[in-house]
Amino acid sequence: MDINVDKYPAKSHAKRVAEKLSAAGHGSSGIIFVEGQKEHIIDDSDEPFHFRQRRNFLYLSGCLEADCSVAYNIEKDELTLFIPPIDPASVMWSGLPLEPAEAMKQFDVDVVLPTTEINNYLAKCGVEKVFTIADRVCSEVSLSSFKQNESSALKTAIESCRVVKDEYEIGLLRRANEVSSKAHVEVMKSATKATNEREFYAKLNYVCMANGCSDQSYHPILACGPNAATLHYVKNNADLTNPATGVKDQLLLIDAGCQYKAYCADITRAFPLSGKFSPEARQIYDIALEMQKVTLGMIKPDVLFDDLHAMAHRVAIKGLVKIGILTGSEDEIFDKGISAAFFPHGLGHHLGMDTHDVGGNPNPADPNRMFKYLRLRGTIPERSVVTIEPGVYFCRYIIEPFLTNPETSKYINTDVLDKYWTVGGVRIEDNVVVRANGFENLTTVPKEPEEVERIVQEGAN
Ligand code: GLY
Ligand code: MN
Ligand code: MN
Repeated sequence: MDINVDKYPAKSHAKRVAEKLSAAGHGSSGIIFVEGQKEHIIDDSDEPFHFRQRRNFLYLSGCLEADCSVAYNIEKDELTLFIPPIDPASVMWSGLPLEPAEAMKQFDVDVVLPTTEINNYLAKCGVEKVFTIADRVCSEVSLSSFKQNESSALKTAIESCRVVKDEYEIGLLRRANEVSSKAHVEVMKSATKATNEREFYAKLNYVCMANGCSDQSYHPILACGPNAATLHYVKNNADLTNPATGVKDQLLLIDAGCQYKAYCADITRAFPLSGKFSPEARQIYDIALEMQKVTLGMIKPDVLFDDLHAMAHRVAIKGLVKIGILTGSEDEIFDKGISAAFFPHGLGHHLGMDTHDVGGNPNPADPNRMFKYLRLRGTIPERSVVTIEPGVYFCRYIIEPFLTNPETSKYINTDVLDKYWTVGGVRIEDNVVVRANGFENLTTVPKEPEEVERIVQEGAN
C-alpha cells in the first residue's frame, strides 16, 4: 500500500484544525477536547450496538477504540489520548484493552493517560479556553476550570479540514477501493450461477472480509432489473429470474464499498446477469458511461462541481434524444429540468471517513429540481476525494409526474419510453482524487461494456 508514514497523522490534523480556528479569529491558544464514541448497549439486551467511531474524534487521534477521548494543547503543541483504564471484571469477558505503552506505539500522540485522568488534566492544564463540539461532551467531564467553552467553531473547523485529504488518508481510501473493486469483480463473476440477490450480498461480504475489511461503508445495494430504479434499494433478496420472461435477462446494479480503517469506498456498477447486454440496456449503459467520462474529464483543482453536474445532464439529454425517449431542443429540455426525470440524484459527493463526507454544502431547498439532491455544491480543491456517479433510471414514481403534466410530457415519447422500463437503472460510480493535473481514479473495477460482459461470461466457465 502506498502510505509513506507509519502512523495515522493525527498530530498534523490537530495542527491544521488549530490553524483553522486561529484563521477564524479564535486565537492561538486553548485546549481542543473531543470525545470518541462510547459503547452502547441495545435496549432490553446485554448486546452492544455495532461500534462505529465518531469521525471527528478519529480525525484527531487515529484511534478506533471505544470510550476514548483526545485533547490538544494548541500552544504546547501536545496531543493527549485518553484510553479506558483496565477493569478486571471486563478483562475476564473481553480480554485486555489497549494498554498505554501499546497506544503510544500505535498512535501519533505525545501522551497517553487513562480516561479517569480527564478531569484532572483539564483542571490543571492552565489554559483559559476550551474548544468542544456542542452536545458531544458527556456529563462526567468538568469544564468548570475554563473561562470560556467555545462550542460552535470546532466542528466546522474539523469538517473543513477533512475535505482536503493527506496522502496517508488517500492511501487508506485507495486500499478500501482495491478491496471493494476485487469484491465487485467477484460478484460479477458469480452472476451466471447465482439465483437470488442475497448470493451477491454474501459474496461481497466474503471478499471484503477475507481481504481485511470487515465493515461495509453503507448498506450495500444489490438490485436486479427494476429494483435498480429504487436509488437506495436495500432488500437484496429478490430472485434473479425475470418473472416476465422466465430467464435471467436483466441487469444487476451493485452499489457497494467497504471501509478500510474507517475510510470508505463507494462504487457502483451495472452488468447483465446473462453476460450480454440487451440492446436497450446497452443504450442506457452507454449514456451513463458517457456522462461519467465527460464529467471525469472536467475534473481539476477548484472546478465548480455544479458545472460537472449540469454537464452530466446535458450528456444525458443528448443520449436520451438520440434514442428517442426525449424529444425537443437540448437547451429547452435542460432549462425545463426534464432530464431530472431520468437522472434525479446528484453527480457525486465528498468521500472520506463518511460515505457522504462532510463539506459538501448541499441545498435541499434549491427550487431547481436538477440541483436539489446534489450533495456537493461549490468548488473541489486539490486532494479532495469525490465520487462521480451519474445514472439513468426508469422509476415510475419519478417519471409519471412528468408524464401527467403537459408542460413536461411534451418532451417525452412514451412509445419509446415503454421499451425501457425493464432496464431498471444504470449507475456507474468511481472514487477519484482531485490532482494538480486532473484526477486519480482509485476505483479499478472495469466498466467498458465489452469487458464487463467478458468478466460475467468468464464466471460461467
Ligand atoms: N452509495 C450511496 C451513494 O452512492 O451515494
Ligand atoms: Mn456515492
Ligand atoms: Mn454509491
